[in-house]
Amino acid sequence: MERFRVSGGVSLRGEVRVTGAKNSVLKLMAAALLAEGRTTLTDVPNILDVGFMADVLRRLGCTVGISEGCVTVDVPGEIASAAPYELVRRLRASICVLGPLLARCGKAEVALPGGDNIGSRGLDMHLSGLEQLGATIAVEHGFVVATAPDGLVGTTLRLAYPSVGATENLVTAAVLARGSTVIDNVAREPEIVDLCRMLERMGARLDGVGSSTLEIEGVDQLHATSHRTVPDRIVAATWAFAAVMTQGDVVVRNGRAEHLVLPLDKLASTGAQIDVLSDGFRVSMSQRPRCVDAVTLPYPGFPTDLQPMVLALNAIGEGTAMVTENVFESRFMFVNELARLGADVHLDGHHAVVRGRPRLSGAPVVATDIRAGAGLVLAGLVGEGETLVDDAHHVDRGYPDLVGQLSGLGARIVREHVADRMAE
Ligand code: UD1
Repeated sequence: MERFRVSGGVSLRGEVRVTGAKNSVLKLMAAALLAEGRTTLTDVPNILDVGFMADVLRRLGCTVGISEGCVTVDVPGEIASAAPYELVRRLRASICVLGPLLARCGKAEVALPGGDNIGSRGLDMHLSGLEQLGATIAVEHGFVVATAPDGLVGTTLRLAYPSVGATENLVTAAVLARGSTVIDNVAREPEIVDLCRMLERMGARLDGVGSSTLEIEGVDQLHATSHRTVPDRIVAATWAFAAVMTQGDVVVRNGRAEHLVLPLDKLASTGAQIDVLSDGFRVSMSQRPRCVDAVTLPYPGFPTDLQPMVLALNAIGEGTAMVTENVFESRFMFVNELARLGADVHLDGHHAVVRGRPRLSGAPVVATDIRAGAGLVLAGLVGEGETLVDDAHHVDRGYPDLVGQLSGLGARIVREHVADRMAE
């Protein structure tokens, strides 16, 4: 057990650099399976999930090297096609090996990842899309078993909802399918664009990248490549929210403001000053923020991964705001923890009404997932006294060196080992 001990009351000041996006690099690693040879990824964040994905790829026969910000994936001519439960359960994103395995091997057996703390997260669109590409799918004994012995065949299909994971699985399957595929209503997140750009470097033929409709002309073979991971917009925005909440002044290097148009607009309407720089952006705040409404939606809407941050901000804001969660049904679990810090939040279905209070009060809380954990740390930064955030490992999955980076901005935060929670 590890936890963060945060003391509130410090305005964050200074510079912080954002590395590559977790939600991109995991998919880039999976996409490496599409070509024999060495794929090299740079600006890779130092987070637990990269190690988990490396273990999945190793089980499939790859040699994976991880060193300071760089991952190499050596993919052999023949790869295994089965990803077992003991690895998949650690990392839900490992479902994204399904498309590449099916495209490359004509079969794939991937364990169902199961639920997690932010909702049921179905796979129906992944599976029906692959079926439309000619695969036969069975779900049995806790596995998705997909086969296409004669290869996948291009088709026209439309996603019922712009799912990030389904888009990724379908694109990585279609790049090696026979003929052309058109997928309508795809997700448009910057991480999807990043994946498409890497696929193009590997020799894939894509049209419409970044729009709602992707056209993919299948090719016989792809080749290994090198690719720099797109910066993590969620981590970048986390620093921006932290700056506003603590009335600080933070430069976020390598933060891409163009990927955060709506969240930065929201922060501007709290009263913050946002300046776009050549290699990042600066966020400064000199007063208590005003509360802001937010509605989570697929990109370019307000990201669900920043919902805990906007709730935490509103908890200490001036006024009242409504935050609506449209993407993950159970994401408001975090509200109970925020309430332990004194936040005034009223839940009604997928709406949360937050009445801002001048201050929160430090207390022991539990991180229920990556972003909830980060939201609680932010709340701790503006709480009176100490906040203890248990289950820090959730946060480690998405934030490289949270403690080091926050300390660099002046925050009083340490990580500590908890031998026995009951004994505390
Ligand atoms: C990814 C991100 C996650 C982010 C989310 C939305 C990774 C590793 N995770 O998750 O951080 O919050 O995008 O931006 O990249 N759904 C179905 N059936 C499907 C597919 C999805 O019902 O076949 C539902 C899910 O249950 C969820 C919603 O659609 O309620 C969004 O899911 P999706 O966009 O696929 O998100 P993930 O890829 O799981």
